[in-house]
Amino acid sequence: MKVNVLFSNNNYDELYFTGKTCVVIDVLRASTVIVTALANGAREVIPVSTVDFAMKVSGDAFRSQTLLGGERNTKKVEGFTLGNSPLEYIPEVVNGKSIIHYTTNGSKAIVKAKFSENLFVGCFNNASAVVQHCIGLKKDLEIVCAGNSGAFNLEDAICAGLMISEIVEKKKDAVLTDSAGACVLLHKTYVKNILKMLKNTEHGKLLAKNGFDEDIKECAKIDSTDIIPYFNSGVIKKIEK
Ligand code: MLT
Repeated sequence: MKVNVLFSNNNYDELYFTGKTCVVIDVLRASTVIVTALANGAREVIPVSTVDFAMKVSGDAFRSQTLLGGERNTKKVEGFTLGNSPLEYIPEVVNGKSIIHYTTNGSKAIVKAKFSENLFVGCFNNASAVVQHCIGLKKDLEIVCAGNSGAFNLEDAICAGLMISEIVEKKKDAVLTDSAGACVLLHKTYVKNILKMLKNTEHGKLLAKNGFDEDIKECAKIDSTDIIPYFNSGVIKKIEK
């Protein structure tokens, strides 16, 4: 099992992902929101790469069963029902609903990887469940960090490092690329205090400045759920156990 990490998908076109098994990570906060929404009963999450398309899809879908959620510059998009705080995606709001989801980096990273053979959504909340499932597939793994507008971000790389450390523990013959090995070392550096690390990242500081401190705590929870979001034919659903 070979494991590679992309710190951003800017340099890759959609065809690069054809036939690959991928995990998209956007810790702050898109992946955590998707995992939370599905864990709280959402029927599906539909990632989109523009706000205009989000509005169009919501108009075409069954209005009563569809919610628009996501962010621009960390804040709720005008006209959306929900922002991009995992704390908004509670069962009373999302149960049974289809959520059309637009975010600055995470939803775009998922859409970019749409030709993957297998495409999962990962974060700290479901790291071990994703690792266990991917090991069972016995395929090479491409971990795609959403990053920040094409730039490296520390939180996604460290979450990738956590996942890769668990893979290496369970699969002694795993082969890591340099980017995957670097993530393992980054994770080792910060493993003792993930919350403190998140608070000190560029995006963590911006979220705190905009009043989303509680979101960072939610995103820092490790293995709080075993929900595995799986992207297929444009829609993300949870894998049924
Ligand atoms: C992203 O897509 O980069 C994040 O989800 C942004 C955010 O939620 O603040």
